[in-house]
Amino acid sequence: MTEKYVMITGANSGIGRAAALKFASEGYHVIMACRNMKISVPVQNEIIASTKNSHVDLLELDISSFDSIRRFCKIFKSSYSRLDIVINNAAYLNHGEKEYKLSADQIELSFATNAFGPFLLTHLLADLLAKSPDPRVLNACTTNVKNFFDPKRKIEFDNLRGELKDVRPYSKYKMYGDSKMALLILTFKMAEQYKHLGIKINAIQINRVKLSKETINKMRSFWKVLAWVQNLTNPLPVYMADNYFHICTSDEFKNSTGQFINHHKNIITPSITEKGVAQVKNIFGFSTYPRYALDPQNMEQIWTLCKSLTNEKIDANRVQALL
Ligand SMILES: NC(=O)c1ccc[n+]([C@@H]2O[C@H](COP(=O)([O-])OP(=O)(O)OC[C@H]3O[C@@H](n4cnc5c(N)ncnc54)[C@H](OP(=O)(O)O)[C@@H]3O)[C@@H](O)[C@H]2O)c1
Repeated sequence: MTEKYVMITGANSGIGRAAALKFASEGYHVIMACRNMKISVPVQNEIIASTKNSHVDLLELDISSFDSIRRFCKIFKSSYSRLDIVINNAAYLNHGEKEYKLSADQIELSFATNAFGPFLLTHLLADLLAKSPDPRVLNACTTNVKNFFDPKRKIEFDNLRGELKDVRPYSKYKMYGDSKMALLILTFKMAEQYKHLGIKINAIQINRVKLSKETINKMRSFWKVLAWVQNLTNPLPVYMADNYFHICTSDEFKNSTGQFINHHKNIITPSITEKGVAQVKNIFGFSTYPRYALDPQNMEQIWTLCKSLTNEKIDANRVQALL
């Protein structure tokens, strides 16, 4: 088999780490894209030792920073001539955080990390991905987007650059959910934009997975206790890592693009109605997603922001021109 290349963001912890281990054990060339080298080098070494696969590399990437993404992509392209799979797994959600935070580019930190960063990374690597016979991108999403079944729920488009940070109450969960909804919308939009290059872009709806010790240690005390209690019943990250692997490698999903896939590996469809009993089923089930994600206005707004914030000319022609 020709060696295949997979790049995973946030591969030093939780599901990303389990996914790096899975791909390495299956003989893939793995590139771990992580921001903290000190904690990531031992993880890289551990994966190499346990899988006996020496093709596990580590590259520095802060996905919340456009400069870091550009630097990363430059190094990536000078080091590798092949890329088959990108997994946008890294995310920002600090359970104890009370403060609205801005990224280096002055964008709300959850949005910078969870939506605009993955967009720019995928966009800048699209030319390399397009050379693969079966290029696939997977975005890590969450059940938190179900909050958008509430017709009143909207992305705070007017507060993504700190405009109202001193006057509007801030909820990290709302911003996290909003940013993941933006990622879902981007999944649909990018699947369409990069289709002519053969790149398949999907999102996975992660429900609940045991949090890593490192992630729990970043929390404030109350959240720490809660996380340990929830961890008693939450499944291990390896279970979701197996889903990542299946969606990115199996024949079942070879032709899927622009899909939202749940933790049972079933494709989720947009809700037909968001009223009455159907709405209760929407909220408690795992087979529908809010129609908000398909609203053309929302899609246009996110797409326009991607272009203006990153200063990238992102029409598909440019991607072709890079080939
Ligand atoms: N666990 C769950 O129950 C659950 C539920 C729904 C969705 N998800 C989603 O699943 C994915 C993985 O979650 P997890 O629980 O495995 O998370 P985790 O263990 O907390 O790992 C998050 C990873 O993202 C990295 N990261 C955060 N900000 C970054 C940045 N600016 N640049 C580069 N890397 C960054 C972290 O790096 P550091 O170690 O340097 O901080 C870490 O490696 C996330 O997208 C999350 O939203 C998880």
